[in-house]
Amino acid sequence: MATKISLKEEIMAYSIGLAGKGGTGKTTVAGLLIKYLVENGKVPVLAVDADANANLNEVLGLEVQETLGDAREEMKKGVATGMTKNIDLLLVVSDPSRRGIQAAARIMDLTKELPLNIKKKAFLVNQAKENQEPEIEKSAAAVGLELSGIIPEDPLIRDSDVSGKPTTQLTMNSKAVEKAFKIFEAIL
Ligand SMILES: Nc1ncnc2c1ncn2[C@@H]1O[C@H](COP(=O)(O)OP(=O)(O)O)[C@@H](O)[C@H]1O
Ligand SMILES: [Mg+2]
Repeated sequence: MATKISLKEEIMAYSIGLAGKGGTGKTTVAGLLIKYLVENGKVPVLAVDADANANLNEVLGLEVQETLGDAREEMKKGVATGMTKNIDLLLVVSDPSRRGIQAAARIMDLTKELPLNIKKKAFLVNQAKENQEPEIEKSAAAVGLELSGIIPEDPLIRDSDVSGKPTTQLTMNSKAVEKAFKIFEAIL
């Protein structure tokens, strides 16, 4: 079915960046976010994994044919550099630990010193164990971070990782997917 879209909609881009310590769940959250965007018709999505050890493709179940570096060479245009200066939304991801949350606060502070134009920032805690919410809320408040949401630790996510299945194949019976989607709905 063809839908007519206005020129404005056609050219409107929205960029989202993710930051946080290693292992907090940036790649996993990015995968869930891409799933959310695609399922809500917010397409096309250009997903860029700028990590030295890029593995977002595995979470998405895609094979990498060509890197953005290759594409950039071909286009001879500053796609990668131009893209990172203006960020509509920055998601900072942390694990539930007090030290992890302190690191997230430092990352938030650091972003103020970078030559970036970030319109909105949100802070998420991922991999929370049952009943950890009150502690997490306290830790966030202690470092002056407003918490946008908490994503639970979910054995289904770990299982997909262990068996090499794309995380994006998980459905709403995953508690983490359900919670992440609610958070995205609220902040996007
Ligand atoms: N909510 C969650 N529940 C269970 N395991 C998770 C969750 N989020 C991430 N993980 C697991 O934690 C590990 C690190 O996540 P990853 O997304 O690779 O972190 P990062 O990209 O920040 O280094 C992975 O093995 C991933 O499957
Ligand atoms: Mg990663």
